[in-house]
Amino acid sequence: MASLTESSRERVERLASRYPERRSALLPALYVAQEQDGYVTDEAIEDIAGILGISPAEVKGVASFYTMYYNRPVGRYIFQVCGTLSCALCGAEDVIRFLEQKLGVRAGQTTADGKFMFEVVECLGACGSAPVMLFGDRYYENLTLDQLDRLIDELRSRPAEEPQRAPQLTGMEAPD
Ligand code: FES
Repeated sequence: MASLTESSRERVERLASRYPERRSALLPALYVAQEQDGYVTDEAIEDIAGILGISPAEVKGVASFYTMYYNRPVGRYIFQVCGTLSCALCGAEDVIRFLEQKLGVRAGQTTADGKFMFEVVECLGACGSAPVMLFGDRYYENLTLDQLDRLIDELRSRPAEEPQRAPQLTGMEAPD
Protein backbone atom coordinates (compact mmCIF):
# COMPACT_ATOMS: atom_id res chain seq x y z
CA MET A 1 0.00 0.00 0.00
CA ALA A 2 1.35 3.44 -0.76
CA SER A 3 -1.27 6.11 -1.36
CA LEU A 4 -3.66 7.02 1.43
CA THR A 5 -6.65 4.71 1.63
CA GLU A 6 -10.14 6.14 1.62
CA SER A 7 -10.41 5.80 5.38
CA SER A 8 -7.00 7.45 5.93
CA ARG A 9 -8.02 10.30 3.65
CA GLU A 10 -11.20 10.75 5.70
CA ARG A 11 -9.15 10.82 8.91
CA VAL A 12 -6.85 13.49 7.50
CA GLU A 13 -9.87 15.47 6.30
CA ARG A 14 -11.38 15.29 9.79
CA LEU A 15 -8.10 16.42 11.35
CA ALA A 16 -7.83 19.34 8.92
CA SER A 17 -11.37 20.47 9.72
CA ARG A 18 -10.42 20.95 13.39
CA TYR A 19 -7.97 23.75 12.69
CA PRO A 20 -8.51 27.29 11.44
CA GLU A 21 -5.72 26.58 8.97
CA ARG A 22 -5.70 23.16 7.33
CA ARG A 23 -1.91 23.02 7.24
CA SER A 24 -1.88 22.86 11.07
CA ALA A 25 -2.99 19.22 10.78
CA LEU A 26 0.28 18.23 9.12
CA LEU A 27 1.91 16.41 12.05
CA PRO A 28 -1.12 14.26 12.94
CA ALA A 29 -1.72 13.63 9.23
CA LEU A 30 1.79 12.20 8.96
CA TYR A 31 0.94 9.89 11.86
CA VAL A 32 -2.10 8.66 9.95
CA ALA A 33 0.11 7.85 6.95
CA GLN A 34 2.67 6.11 9.13
CA GLU A 35 0.02 4.11 10.92
CA GLN A 36 -1.30 2.93 7.59
CA ASP A 37 1.94 1.62 6.06
CA GLY A 38 4.44 1.61 8.93
CA TYR A 39 6.27 4.54 7.32
CA VAL A 40 5.45 7.66 5.33
CA THR A 41 5.46 6.84 1.63
CA ASP A 42 6.10 9.35 -1.17
CA GLU A 43 2.55 8.77 -2.41
CA ALA A 44 1.12 9.56 1.04
CA ILE A 45 3.14 12.78 1.07
CA GLU A 46 1.52 13.80 -2.22
CA ASP A 47 -1.93 12.93 -0.87
CA ILE A 48 -1.44 14.85 2.37
CA ALA A 49 -0.16 17.87 0.47
CA GLY A 50 -3.27 17.80 -1.71
CA ILE A 51 -5.67 17.50 1.21
CA LEU A 52 -4.00 20.21 3.29
CA GLY A 53 -3.37 22.56 0.38
CA ILE A 54 0.40 22.77 0.78
CA SER A 55 3.31 21.66 -1.36
CA PRO A 56 4.68 18.09 -1.26
CA ALA A 57 8.12 19.60 -0.62
CA GLU A 58 6.82 21.20 2.56
CA VAL A 59 5.25 17.95 3.74
CA LYS A 60 8.46 16.07 2.96
CA GLY A 61 10.55 18.69 4.75
CA VAL A 62 8.52 18.32 7.94
CA ALA A 63 8.42 14.51 7.71
CA SER A 64 12.21 14.34 7.35
CA PHE A 65 12.83 16.86 10.15
CA TYR A 66 11.16 14.84 12.92
CA THR A 67 12.78 11.58 13.95
CA MET A 68 9.47 9.88 14.76
CA TYR A 69 8.55 9.68 11.09
CA TYR A 70 10.18 7.07 8.88
CA ASN A 71 10.69 7.24 5.12
CA ARG A 72 11.44 3.52 4.71
CA PRO A 73 9.98 0.27 6.01
CA VAL A 74 11.02 -0.25 9.63
CA GLY A 75 10.40 -2.83 12.33
CA ARG A 76 6.92 -3.34 13.74
CA TYR A 77 8.27 -2.75 17.26
CA ILE A 78 10.64 0.19 17.57
CA PHE A 79 12.69 0.83 20.70
CA GLN A 80 14.23 4.27 21.19
CA VAL A 81 17.12 4.06 23.64
CA CYS A 82 18.40 7.28 25.15
CA GLY A 83 22.16 7.58 24.71
CA THR A 84 22.63 11.01 26.33
CA LEU A 85 24.76 11.71 29.40
CA SER A 86 22.66 10.49 32.36
CA CYS A 87 21.62 7.35 30.52
CA ALA A 88 25.14 6.81 29.19
CA LEU A 89 26.47 6.96 32.76
CA CYS A 90 23.77 4.57 33.98
CA GLY A 91 24.19 1.76 31.46
CA ALA A 92 22.80 2.82 28.07
CA GLU A 93 25.84 1.23 26.40
CA ASP A 94 24.97 -2.10 28.04
CA VAL A 95 21.38 -1.74 26.85
CA ILE A 96 22.57 -1.09 23.30
CA ARG A 97 25.01 -4.02 23.36
CA PHE A 98 22.26 -6.26 24.73
CA LEU A 99 19.86 -5.24 21.97
CA GLU A 100 22.51 -5.81 19.30
CA GLN A 101 23.11 -9.28 20.65
CA LYS A 102 19.49 -10.27 21.36
CA LEU A 103 18.09 -8.92 18.08
CA GLY A 104 21.14 -9.52 15.88
CA VAL A 105 21.03 -6.02 14.37
CA ARG A 106 22.79 -2.69 14.85
CA ALA A 107 21.03 0.56 15.73
CA GLY A 108 18.82 1.69 12.84
CA GLN A 109 18.54 -1.79 11.31
CA THR A 110 15.43 -3.97 11.24
CA THR A 111 15.45 -7.67 12.14
CA ALA A 112 15.04 -10.14 9.27
CA ASP A 113 11.51 -11.03 10.39
CA GLY A 114 10.54 -7.34 10.23
CA LYS A 115 9.52 -7.30 13.88
CA PHE A 116 12.10 -5.18 15.69
CA MET A 117 14.21 -2.10 15.21
CA PHE A 118 16.03 -0.02 17.78
CA GLU A 119 17.46 3.47 17.61
CA VAL A 120 19.77 5.47 19.84
CA VAL A 121 18.19 8.88 20.45
CA GLU A 122 18.94 12.06 22.31
CA CYS A 123 17.64 12.82 25.83
CA LEU A 124 14.08 11.60 26.37
CA GLY A 125 13.53 14.01 29.24
CA ALA A 126 13.45 11.44 32.05
CA CYS A 127 17.13 11.71 33.06
CA GLY A 128 16.42 11.05 36.75
CA SER A 129 15.29 7.52 35.86
CA ALA A 130 18.20 6.56 33.62
CA PRO A 131 18.62 4.37 31.68
CA VAL A 132 15.46 5.14 29.74
CA MET A 133 13.84 3.64 26.67
CA LEU A 134 10.74 4.72 24.77
CA PHE A 135 8.55 2.15 23.05
CA GLY A 136 5.40 3.48 21.43
CA ASP A 137 3.99 5.99 23.89
CA ARG A 138 5.42 4.23 26.96
CA TYR A 139 8.57 5.10 28.85
CA TYR A 140 10.59 2.27 30.39
CA GLU A 141 12.60 3.85 33.17
CA ASN A 142 15.41 2.42 35.31
CA LEU A 143 15.57 -0.22 32.61
CA THR A 144 17.44 -3.43 33.37
CA LEU A 145 18.68 -6.02 30.89
CA ASP A 146 16.48 -8.64 32.52
CA GLN A 147 13.37 -6.51 31.97
CA LEU A 148 14.37 -5.83 28.39
CA ASP A 149 14.93 -9.53 27.83
CA ARG A 150 11.41 -10.33 29.05
CA LEU A 151 9.89 -7.51 27.04
CA ILE A 152 11.41 -8.76 23.79
CA ASP A 153 10.39 -12.35 24.52
CA GLU A 154 6.83 -11.23 25.14
CA LEU A 155 6.70 -9.20 21.94
CA ARG A 156 8.21 -12.07 19.95
CA SER A 157 5.47 -14.37 21.13
CA ARG A 158 2.67 -12.03 20.03
CA PRO A 159 0.60 -12.93 16.98
CA ALA A 160 1.46 -10.72 13.99
CA GLU A 161 -1.95 -9.05 13.91
CA GLU A 162 -1.95 -8.03 17.58
CA PRO A 163 -1.98 -4.25 18.26
CA GLN A 164 1.38 -2.62 18.92
CA ARG A 165 0.50 -1.65 22.48
CA ALA A 166 3.54 -1.53 24.78
CA PRO A 167 3.20 -3.99 27.67
CA GLN A 168 3.65 -3.13 31.32
CA LEU A 169 6.06 -5.61 32.86
CA THR A 170 6.41 -6.21 36.59
CA GLY A 171 9.15 -4.08 38.06
CA MET A 172 9.11 -1.51 35.28
CA GLU A 173 8.32 2.06 36.10
CA ALA A 174 6.12 2.97 33.16
CA PRO A 175 2.87 4.93 33.22
CA ASP A 176 -0.33 3.28 32.01
S1 FES B 1 19.77 11.57 29.52
FE1 FES B 1 18.47 9.88 29.10
S2 FES B 1 16.50 10.68 29.48
FE2 FES B 1 17.80 12.38 29.67
